[in-house]
Amino acid sequence: MNVNKENNIVELLLKEKIVNDEDRQILDMIVPERLNRLYEVLKERTRYVSILLEAVDDGHNQAAVLRSAEAFGVQNVTVVTGRAPFAPNELVTKSADKWLTIDYQSDICAAISQLKKKGYQIYVSHLSEQAVPLEKLDVSRPTVLVFGNEHSGVSKEAVDMADRTFVIPMKGFVQSLNISVAAALSIKHITDLAKGRAGAEYYLTLEEKQEIFRDWMLKSLNNRLRKIVAQYK
Ligand SMILES: C[S@@+](CC[C@H](N)C(=O)[O-])C[C@H]1O[C@@H](n2cnc3c(N)ncnc32)[C@H](O)[C@@H]1O
Repeated sequence: MNVNKENNIVELLLKEKIVNDEDRQILDMIVPERLNRLYEVLKERTRYVSILLEAVDDGHNQAAVLRSAEAFGVQNVTVVTGRAPFAPNELVTKSADKWLTIDYQSDICAAISQLKKKGYQIYVSHLSEQAVPLEKLDVSRPTVLVFGNEHSGVSKEAVDMADRTFVIPMKGFVQSLNISVAAALSIKHITDLAKGRAGAEYYLTLEEKQEIFRDWMLKSLNNRLRKIVAQYK
């Protein structure tokens, strides 16, 4: 349904049960234009495709990947920190990280095991002869794409635990892409593919929509209003 000014976004959110009646007061604190935007973005969000960053150390690269994930509708990012702290550059993120669900893990094996338990297949980017070209990957199951460190790439543990390794075929003299470029190309390709393959399963469930929309509504309030809402809860 295309929401425009004639439609009442508040009524729509309540009717579709994205917002419960008890949160009606929060809805009334946000201008309709903002609610419309949140709703339109929510409709494109997915957990079917997810990203794992392993020891990506540069703040600009960290930020650029988060921005691409957000822009292409990927809601969940897992971060396994490397030598440097995870501190995405704010000038690059453009606040993209505010709208994402980021899970911080300290160990790559534990992180991959948890994702596998949730039903994900793990595709690890790896510059090797055995790696499958990106265009040949299949997305018949929920999929995590793993990207590695600027210098050393992904760990042996990640490769060993992968369902598949993949590569964006290189045609020039350089051997690799910048991590954030590799991530952007891969996310765009895999989300397009998965949308066609998974149909409705690609998009968030109603429960996921409710949880994320509430979080986004709270993030859309100024500090004073957020405190008022917290007092009611
Ligand atoms: C600069 S590369 C690391 C290069 C490292 N020497 C290696 O062999 O992996 C940093 C990350 O970018 C991603 N990447 C770069 N080029 C890629 C390509 N052609 N295909 C897939 N991923 C790539 C991978 O996630 C890689 O771990």
